[in-house]
Parts: sequence; C-alpha cells; structure tokens
Amino acid sequence: MTRHLITSAIPYINGIKHLGNLVGSQLPADLFARYQRARGNEVLFLCATDEHGTPAELAAAKAGKPVDDFCTEMHEVQAEIARGFGLSFDHFGRSSSPQNHALTQHLAGRLADADLIYEVSEKQVYSNADGRFLPDRYIEGTCPNCGYDSARGDQCENCTKQLDPTDLIDPRSAVSGSTDLEVRETKHLYLRQSALSEQLDTWIDSKHDWPILTTSIAKKWLHDGDGLRDRGITRDLDWGIPVKNGDKDWPGMEGKVFYVWFDAPIEYIACAGEWAEANGKTDADWERWWRTDRGADDVRYTQFMGKDNVPFHTLSFPATIIGSGEDWKLVDYIKSFNYLNYDGGQFSTSKGRGVFMDQALSILPADYWRWWLLSHAPESSDSEFTWDNFQTSVNKDLADVLGNFVSRVTKFCRSKFGETVPEGGEYGPTELALIDDLTTKIHAYEGHMEAMEVRKSAQALRAIWVAGNEYLQNAAPWTTFKTDPETAAMTVRLSLNLIRLYAVLSAPFIPTASQSLMDAMHTDHDLWPDDVTGALEVLKSGHEFEVPEVTFRKITDDERDEWQIKFSGTRD
Ligand code: MF3
Ligand code: ZN
Repeated sequence: MTRHLITSAIPYINGIKHLGNLVGSQLPADLFARYQRARGNEVLFLCATDEHGTPAELAAAKAGKPVDDFCTEMHEVQAEIARGFGLSFDHFGRSSSPQNHALTQHLAGRLADADLIYEVSEKQVYSNADGRFLPDRYIEGTCPNCGYDSARGDQCENCTKQLDPTDLIDPRSAVSGSTDLEVRETKHLYLRQSALSEQLDTWIDSKHDWPILTTSIAKKWLHDGDGLRDRGITRDLDWGIPVKNGDKDWPGMEGKVFYVWFDAPIEYIACAGEWAEANGKTDADWERWWRTDRGADDVRYTQFMGKDNVPFHTLSFPATIIGSGEDWKLVDYIKSFNYLNYDGGQFSTSKGRGVFMDQALSILPADYWRWWLLSHAPESSDSEFTWDNFQTSVNKDLADVLGNFVSRVTKFCRSKFGETVPEGGEYGPTELALIDDLTTKIHAYEGHMEAMEVRKSAQALRAIWVAGNEYLQNAAPWTTFKTDPETAAMTVRLSLNLIRLYAVLSAPFIPTASQSLMDAMHTDHDLWPDDVTGALEVLKSGHEFEVPEVTFRKITDDERDEWQIKFSGTRD
C-alpha cells in the first residue's frame, strides 16, 4: 500500500471557476485520488480556497462586502459546487485559516533565521486618484516580455512571465483606470531565492519523469537572463497574513501582509492541519503526511495545476520549505496542464466568457462534464471546448457505448429471464477471448492512470466499454435465445457482471453514474478487479437486479444550439 498526498492548486476565492480552471487542477486531481483509493492505497486529497491578495479585495469591493464576510460566503459557494462535481477532497480548507497564519509566520521566521530574507526599500506605484499603493493586480499595463496589453502587475497571462508591477509599460490602475500614478518609497521583505538556485536546479534535474511542460518552465526561470530572481514576499495591503516572525512582531513591517503567493502554497500544509482539526485527529495524524521526520518519508506527493502556476510550485514554494531547514515533504510529481479554450476564444473570468461550474451543473449532471473535460484534458497542448464536440462525445461515448450496453443487457434480461441473473452454460471461445482482451485493456488503463495520462486513460476506459459492446453484438443473445437459450443466458450473465465491472473501473471518471449502476445491480462489491475471470463471477445466478434509469441521455441538436447561444454572452 502506498500513501498518496494529493493537492490541487487552490482556486482564488474571487468568483466561481470556469470549466478551464476545473480541468486544469481540481478535476484531474480528483481522478487520480479516486483511482488511488480504488486501488486500496491511502490517500489524503486536499484543496482549499486562496483567499488573500488583491483578487479577493477587488471582488469583495465589487460585491460591496467586507472582505472576510465575502470570503466566508464564497468559500461555502465553492465548496457546494465542488461537491456537485463530485470532487472528493478529504478537506477543502481556507488559506485564511488560523493554521495558515501561524505556519506562514513561522516559516518566514525560519527563513529570516537562515539569512534568506532581507529588507528592500523599494519604489512602488502609488495611485493619487485611489489614495493607495497599487500592488500586483491593481495595476495593468503592457508586458515588457511579449507586448500583451493587459498584463497584470504580478504575471503576464499571455507569456506566463512573472512580473513586478514597475516592469509594466504604460501602467494604469485596475481600480479606477487612472494613469495618475507616481512612484513612492516603501519597505518590503525579499526571499533570497537566488541563494537556493543551485539546490533547486539539482532537485529539478533529479525529476526525470516529470512532464516537459513542468520542467521546461522551471528551467526557464532558473536559467534565463540573470537566473532565479529574489522575490518580494510582502505587500502594502490590509487583507492578508500580517508580517510577523513566528509570533513576534517584525520591526518596520507594521501594517503589511505577506504576499498571497507566499502564503497560498503554505496552505497545502496548513490544510492538513485543518483536516486533522475538523476530524478530531491529532497533530501527529497530519504530520505523518507532511514531516519527513515524522513518518512522511514514504508518502508520494503529487500536485496538479495549470501551467501558469508552475513557477510557484517548482521554485518559490520549494525555496520556502527547503530554506526553512525543517523536514517538510517536497513534491514528488507535478502534473501541469495547458489551457482549455472556449469556442474559438479564451475562457475569461473577468469577461464572463464560457461555461462556469455552477452553470454547467444547472444544465447537465456532473458526469457528463467530467467525462468530456477529462477525455479532452489539455495535456500536450491547449484544447478547445465546442458545443458540437461536447454533444458528439457525450452522445457517442456515454450514451451509445456505455449507456446503450447497460440498457440492452438489462432490458433483454428482464424480458427473457426477469430481473435476476440467469444461470446459463459454460464459457465458449468468444468469452475466453473477451476475458483476454479485457485483461490487456485493463492493464493498459491502469498504466495510464498510474502515469496520470488523463486523455489516454479516458481512451483506454472507452476501449473497455467498446469491447463489451462488440462482444454483445457478436454473441447476439437475442438470436441465440431462439435456438440455444442456455448460451444466451450465459452471455447475459457475463454481460450483467460486465456492468458491475464497468461501474468499478469507471468510477474515477463518472462516480455518480457508476454508483447508480452499482445500485441497479444491487451490489456494493467495488473492489478493483485482480483478475477478470473472477470479476465476472461476482453476481451469481439468482442475484436480483433492476433495470436502471437511463444512464446517459443524448444531447439534442436543439439543446446544443440553445446552449451555444446562451453561453456566448457575458454573465452578470
Ligand atoms: N489561486 C491560484 C490560481 O488560481 C493557485 C494557487 S496554488 C498555491 O492560479 F500553490 F498557491 F496554493
Ligand atoms: Zn507577456
């Protein structure tokens, strides 16, 4: 048994996420967590809301609410939607938790003790119109690297370059749009990442199995230009984690908070503490996942994220925990994703373009979305959602292949043998060939799931469904029934067992539908199959079942057209 610590990039609190966000982190992380649990491994799957920084402040101001109330409300909204999508977090925490406050301040103190933090008196953009400093996202302008005209002060969305607000060309206030900006002096703390550059480089070099998308981004930041730059880790904001050294004040840093990108990844650790607290566990219970000196050395830690998050996870966060000199677990594998585009353009939270998680659930159950998104995950390149493609996949894969198999088998059985598994004769060569074929296909599926090759896993699962359909088509019990009812009964018995097997194998992708199939087959035998022959003998003759409701329905052309129009505009 392996112990898997799994984290998804923690979504910003500022609004409901779109399907592109979902497929880039939470959903594939859930797929992997569900798979590892199904294989009998111990899993701790954590996610949280990322509540600090300018996105939260800006969104709360827009909603006309105090920022802490806004965060509490939005956390509940996001948690509810996550449940709706079947995201099986062991805990969905908050980066504003007391645990994260304490740990962030503690780690900053350790870094200071290790001489990895220094003070810089820097010039920062001050907006006369807004009467405040404008950090990060409060400033927009042109990217000095690629020329994109809506780059934010912390990062260019277009080329992923990490920026400082003063790097922007033609800067303007994101609050008021004012260009009446001036530069003033303010003091900030910097993390001496440059001092850890060689250590980070060696560490990344040891990760031969990481996706190129992950290592190439890390390498770029380590070696382009002057190499890894030190990062400011404090901001002139009210909302955030106050700058302290452990529980002591930090002279000169009064009224400042840590930068959101400093405290957010620390929440991966703090969240385990929140999980322990919420479940009546002890510190030792969460530390065995995170402290290599307290049992976490045999944990396998996997992180999931979109490509824009990679620099923070390959460099900044490891710098924080390595630099602390404490025995924190470092990530073992980083699975990163490209972007999902929407119908000829980009998904955009600010423009409200595309389908958002709550809207998706209001038109179809989660499994339809889970299947499409995972089977089209933007792994090797960006991918695109179109309504046409969505309709085709759902109708073909889910309705025609899986759903149709279930419906034909169960209805045929009901009409000839009743809602009870029939006895029938011995397997013939067709059945033995099917078992061989399924054995090979299931191994392929397991290999891809283990490797987190999401699209290939979906294809492999689909191939397993197809094999059952082809078998049924060839065995044609509706024909053999007339001359050889024994053989027809055997075919049906095997096929009913296949439905249960499909439910087990498919659960990581489509958990709700899988559960309905298990319920219809009146079984809770959900152990992952060791051998196919055994797995096809779980439901014995005489076992009762019921014909399930439609497992997956088709999307009509009218619906497709209606939804395309409905989601082409902006949401309020
Ligand atoms: N909130 C960030 C985003 O949505 C992700 C933060 S991940 C963490 O891009 F590492 F900082 F936690
Ligand atoms: Zn750029």
